[in-house]
Amino acid sequence: MLSARSARIAVFASGNGSNFEALAAASSAGRLGGTVAALLCDQPQAHVLERARRHGIEAITPPTGRFRSRLEDERPWLEALAERGIDLVVLAGFMRRLHAPLLAAYAGRMLNIHPSLLPSFPGLDAIGQAWRHGVRITGCTVHLVEDALDAGPIVAQSSLEVGEGESLESLTARMHALEHELYAPAIERFLTRAWRLVGRRLEFDATEAAHG
Ligand code: GRF
Repeated sequence: MLSARSARIAVFASGNGSNFEALAAASSAGRLGGTVAALLCDQPQAHVLERARRHGIEAITPPTGRFRSRLEDERPWLEALAERGIDLVVLAGFMRRLHAPLLAAYAGRMLNIHPSLLPSFPGLDAIGQAWRHGVRITGCTVHLVEDALDAGPIVAQSSLEVGEGESLESLTARMHALEHELYAPAIERFLTRAWRLVGRRLEFDATEAAHG
């Protein structure tokens, strides 16, 4: 549980933004445990920017530097978050690795969604990795972000069965629908219940905490 007042959330996204869309809708409906106050986007042409405009959510696009896969200088990003009083960072298809100082500033306050049942199939193209492997059950995972890729403590998971002969396209579409169902309730639970880490297990208290 982060604080008594309603949490201010920044979503980080790089592309299509269907998860952003689901989170923005949950925020408007009071089903997120907080408010999506900003979108941070590292791609000036990304479709997610159009979605933010439609929802009336401020979009921030700080300079990203020369590197495609990591932010060269995270300080402008951190300053943008601090200026807006952001309590929780939610990654939703953000295609760059984060490092200190952002990770340190938001330790225990940054979540990601990944389209596999972690720790299986971390990294890029997780849906394709699982499909090509021939798994019968796959799913998606919401986890705390740590320095190691797709490896932080697990907050929530949801599974689906791969149909006999199911195409990758079909599995991908069903996975995205599952992600949209899982992420908002997982964030709401994370924000409104007390939790603690026991080893690497994230444990929620049994009773729902009051939140304002
Ligand atoms: C999702 O599958 C998410 O799990 C992964 O990137 C994808 C983003 O999709 N990290 P979208 O931009 O939210 O539509």
